[in-house]
Amino acid sequence: MQVWEHREHMADHLPDLNSGILAPVADEVTIEDFTVSGALPPELSGLLIRNGPNPFDGRFAGTDMLSWWVGPAMLHGLLISEGQAHWYRNRWVRTGDWARRFSPATPSGESHDQNVNVNVLHHGGQLFALGEGGLPFIIDEELATIGPTTFDGSLSGGSGFGGMTAHPNVDPETGELRYFRADWQAPFLRYGVLDQHGRQIVDQIIDLPGPAMMHDFATTATRSIFLDLNVAYDFSMLQHGAAIPLRWHDDRVARIGIMPSGGGTLQWVEIELCFIQHVINAYDVGSDTVILDAVRYPSFLRFDRGLGGFEPNPLGVAWRYTIRLGTGAPTVEETQLDDKAIEFPRIDDARIARQHRYVYAVEQPTDIEMRGVIKYDLTNDRTQRYAVPVGDQNAEPIFVARRPQRAGGDEDDGWLVVCVYRAATDTTDVVILDAQDIEAAPVATVHLPRRIPAGFHGTWIPRPAAQQT
Ligand SMILES: [Fe+2]
Repeated sequence: MQVWEHREHMADHLPDLNSGILAPVADEVTIEDFTVSGALPPELSGLLIRNGPNPFDGRFAGTDMLSWWVGPAMLHGLLISEGQAHWYRNRWVRTGDWARRFSPATPSGESHDQNVNVNVLHHGGQLFALGEGGLPFIIDEELATIGPTTFDGSLSGGSGFGGMTAHPNVDPETGELRYFRADWQAPFLRYGVLDQHGRQIVDQIIDLPGPAMMHDFATTATRSIFLDLNVAYDFSMLQHGAAIPLRWHDDRVARIGIMPSGGGTLQWVEIELCFIQHVINAYDVGSDTVILDAVRYPSFLRFDRGLGGFEPNPLGVAWRYTIRLGTGAPTVEETQLDDKAIEFPRIDDARIARQHRYVYAVEQPTDIEMRGVIKYDLTNDRTQRYAVPVGDQNAEPIFVARRPQRAGGDEDDGWLVVCVYRAATDTTDVVILDAQDIEAAPVATVHLPRRIPAGFHGTWIPRPAAQQT
């Protein structure tokens, strides 16, 4: 989700959903002929997949950002190996909505009408498109939909309204998938763990007094961390014409919940009022300290009843929570890491739940721009920036580690893969940056002949060169 998606009442901020980077595409294509600048590294072998909203007729019907983010899921893929870009293709996920539109005789997906347009997960050798709750859809490596999955019933949720967050975490050592499901109806929060084969090993309901907006969470090697903050549901807003019943609540206590990753007792620690849309990472320090880094907003979706709309959101910045757990109540120290506005933070996925040194994120020079990439070196307190010209915009930077890593290779030994929209040509460049020096000229750029519209999250699936198609 992006910062400006809820701004349906802010007429002065409304971008045109059907022009520029936001404009959807109207068809599915497969392209095998590209112009490439620079030289694609021969070790860079894999599949880039990006998810996002894209209406079936290629136009958004509404004019507000809510109309944008609920658009049907479209996946975009680019296969690179042996120094070549082999294909780009875009495919809608074959959901129930898709079947009713394009294939009314096909019942596939109709009983699981999820819109899985937020993220892409690679787990247990399978690929999944994920939405904000609901069931994941299995997809193959050519972006064809296999269908929704409950992981043999693990995600059914008991009430028939199960599923998982769009931001589960795969532990890099155990291969366990840890996830939560925040719901507007009870149970408001559910936590689960699937082992590396997809078998459920933890299923726990966490007691909350009411539903809260939880888009992301964090894990360490031993703990799972939940965010119960100041944005929550207020269904009375529906009667006042609001398109979504979510708003900032000054009277809510903001708190972080920590519990053993295998389930058990959850401990809450209060923090300053805030909202966190995306976590950067979390990790253990010794046995009784947890570090949580996140993009923090001092306010978010503050609803002005007089105006009948949301106030502009301030932009998010990197923040650190140092939580000390002992025999007594937990304590927390809050530290601002930087003052630049960022979103879509990423690290090396192999560092998830382990100590990270480098963070990569999209810069937000204004609240309607995703423009530029910033790299933080938290050890040496240094930053680097990849500048994107005014008018162009970019998606989240995805770190791809060099495999095998070079002898003595650092955590940033690899590349950043970034989709950059070029306004002048209405096309997208997939830019490959040296992650150790993102200010240098790109290592390579794959020039797509058309745009990849703005969207949410993506992933990189490493692929042996022999598997190229
Ligand atoms: Fe997200």
